[in-house]
Amino acid sequence: MSARTVKSLLADAAAMFDSDSALLDAQLLLGKIIGKDRSWMYAHDDADVTETQAAAFRLLAERRSAGEPVAYLLGSRGFWRQHLDVSPSVLIPRPETELLVELVLQLELGLGVQVADLGTGSGAIALALASEKPDWQIFATDISKAALEVAQGNARKLGLDNVCFCEGDWFAALPSLKFNLIVSNPPYIAAGDPHLARGDVRFEPAGALIAGDEGMADLVHIAEQARLFLKSRGWLVMEHGFDQGREVRNLLETMGYSKISTHFDHNAKERVTMGAWHAG
Ligand SMILES: C[S@@+](CC[C@H](N)C(=O)[O-])C[C@H]1O[C@@H](n2cnc3c(N)ncnc32)[C@H](O)[C@@H]1O
Repeated sequence: MSARTVKSLLADAAAMFDSDSALLDAQLLLGKIIGKDRSWMYAHDDADVTETQAAAFRLLAERRSAGEPVAYLLGSRGFWRQHLDVSPSVLIPRPETELLVELVLQLELGLGVQVADLGTGSGAIALALASEKPDWQIFATDISKAALEVAQGNARKLGLDNVCFCEGDWFAALPSLKFNLIVSNPPYIAAGDPHLARGDVRFEPAGALIAGDEGMADLVHIAEQARLFLKSRGWLVMEHGFDQGREVRNLLETMGYSKISTHFDHNAKERVTMGAWHAG
């Protein structure tokens, strides 16, 4: 077998990867180089790849075997119904976060809906909502200029013009409006959490992952301040760590939110908590 067939390149690369999805990772990386999808690779696994393509693939495979996330190597990740560009400036959108989108789409928010997505990263939540609800006006914020550039690029590529992007520290980035809905997937991992030393997260921006007070600081800040920015009967919906559900529910209750509920992700972990705000 030639050392440059699809099959041999995939087998050599997959053997180098310390990943639960080694073959898939290799297929995605080779697909990027040769411009083919996985079904083509299955049907043509004895096809020869040019030396230039093989060399480019081996470089990517080396980076993957050093731990770099596939999404950063490909420069994109699927989220909801969209392909989003990603770079090391943004968190790689997670399937767990699709639960937040699903829950929000079930809320009865009426007409003229204004939404804030705090800490938008690649724009994952804001752009999923923008595509499902073209009549919603969405304000997507981030403290990271580089992240906002990625999110804006995604909005342009997807042709979504109902999202405004604003740079700044949480609520300080927003215009002086009240919102029907505030959503956020803020940093919620405690500094020193052993998960930070494993897998893809080692390559993601610390500012997207780590929060003070054992991971609770940003969740607390957002829940506190959201009361000033929500219309009466507006909703706050936040993603959090699998072990933070009870703390977030207690927080929302103490702060005067009602209709509080926590929802489980596809791994049966508590992942998203929401509450309604009734002013005065
Ligand atoms: C966990 S990531 C979520 C990204 C995206 N919403 C998603 O779900 O894929 C948290 C985001 O919050 C942003 N962030 C962190 N601190 C912030 C702050 N003080 N103000 C605004 N955004 C902040 C980070 O830059 C990062 O993009």
